[in-house]
This record gives sequence, C-alpha cells and structure tokens, in this order.
Amino acid sequence: MKNIPDFQKWKAAGKPITMVTCYDAATAKILNATSVDSILIGDSCAMVVHGFDSTVHATVEMIAAHTAAVRRGAPDKVIVADLPFLSNRKGIDHAMDAVDQLMKAGANAVKLERRKGNVQLVEHIVDSGVPVMGHLGLTPQSVNEFGGFKMQGKSSSAAKALVEDARMLEQAGCFSVVLECIPGDVAEEVTRSVSIPTIGIGCGPEVSGQVLVVNDLLGMDAQFQPRFARKYDNLSERIASAVDRYCADVQSAAFPATGEYTSRLAKLEG
Ligand code: KIV
Ligand code: NA
Repeated sequence: MKNIPDFQKWKAAGKPITMVTCYDAATAKILNATSVDSILIGDSCAMVVHGFDSTVHATVEMIAAHTAAVRRGAPDKVIVADLPFLSNRKGIDHAMDAVDQLMKAGANAVKLERRKGNVQLVEHIVDSGVPVMGHLGLTPQSVNEFGGFKMQGKSSSAAKALVEDARMLEQAGCFSVVLECIPGDVAEEVTRSVSIPTIGIGCGPEVSGQVLVVNDLLGMDAQFQPRFARKYDNLSERIASAVDRYCADVQSAAFPATGEYTSRLAKLEG
C-alpha cells in the first residue's frame, strides 16, 4: 500500500501526484481500483454532498463519518481528511480531539487551511505522529474574508506571502501543501521554494501534483463547472437518462419482466 512517505518519493521521481476527493464508500470502492495516488475527504463535502453554500458548515462529525465510509470502500488508498472550519482554532485540546476522530475514522493524514496561527499546532500534530498537509491560496473556509471564491496571490506582496507561508509550513513539518486558485507563475515559485510536494487545484501545471473534486471531474452537476476543472464525463446527464429509462420501463411494464422476477424469486427461495 502507498502511504504518506511516498509523496516525497513521487516528487523526487518527478511523477505528478494525483489526488481526488471522495465522500462515500460506493465511489471509494471504484477509486480503490484506479491508479489515483490518494483520496481527500475534503470539507467540500459540506457543499458537494450536503448542499451548503460554503465549507463553513462542515463539522468534525461530518468529515469523520465520510472518512470512515471512504476507508471502508478504499482500504488500499492514502487518505487525507480535512480539519473543518474552526476545528483547529479552539485551542490545542479541541484540535487534537478533531485529529483523533479523523485518524480513528481511517485517515492517514489531516489537512488544515492557512498558515497564520497554525504553525505551533502543525508542529504538535506532526510530533504526535500524524502527517499534516497544508492548504494555501484560496482557502475556502475564509470565503467571508475574501468576499467570495476569488483567486488569491495576484499582487506581488501576496505572492511573496504565499512563498513565505509555504516555507513556514514546510518548516513546521507539513509533508505537502495544497495550492488553490493562485496564478500559475506564483504556484511555480512556491513549488520551487519548498522541498515538499505542492498539490495544485486551479494553479496550472507547474506544481508537484493535482487534486480535483471528484464530482467536478465526473460532471455530476450540470450547473456547476469551475473554470479550472476538466469534465471527464457527464454523469449528471447519464444518471438522469438511466433513471428516466427505468421510469419509462416501469410505466410501459417492460420492467420488471415477469419471467425475470419469478426466476429470481425461485432462486431466492431455493
Ligand atoms: O475540500 C476540498 O475539496 C479541498 C480540495 C479542493 C483541495 O480542500
Ligand atoms: Na477543503
């Protein structure tokens, strides 16, 4: 099984690291049989699965429950779980309880957003034997500070701060850092400035790996298409079509077929 130390090996080997989000056991079972390196139980779960308008609504219990489900479906994958909104900002005991819950649910590592005020906590978590992934740039938990889901790091001072933040997170012991929605040249500079791998989303190609929300790459929401995501399928259309065909078959009595039903029943009854 791959694990956290492999991130450094992949970077050293120049192999782009692949990561996708996942929230449920059924999808995890599918992912377990793919070549994807790692699975993130993102707090995007609050939006993608629970229908909230931001990740502010994610809770430790929510992420832990989805982490446990994904672990049951994907026993062989490296799993990272998000520390949700404010769970790492209410003191070290509270934060460590959250880490404890996510690790017991089956994560191999936790991820937390931003650098400021988190360095000592990252050190403590890492010193406790729990790998930590950082997350800089458009950190969605700060949507109210940003005034929307807007690209970050555009000014030269913001770009400099990102490089500094990434260095400090590396220094604190992070094994990797997600860069979200920052200019490609800034992501490239951050990547060059640290020895840990950077995992990009909406940052262009000059990073050590990529992460996408699995629902976005599968095209699960016809109305939602972030500019940086690429749709590898149109599952929303294909699912709707399958359900409509099922309904039509029920209406026309094409399903269930009488013979199909009775032979299955006979099998069940032995
Ligand atoms: O919650 C999430 O899905 C994430 C990724 C987009 C990096 O944090
Ligand atoms: Na997240």
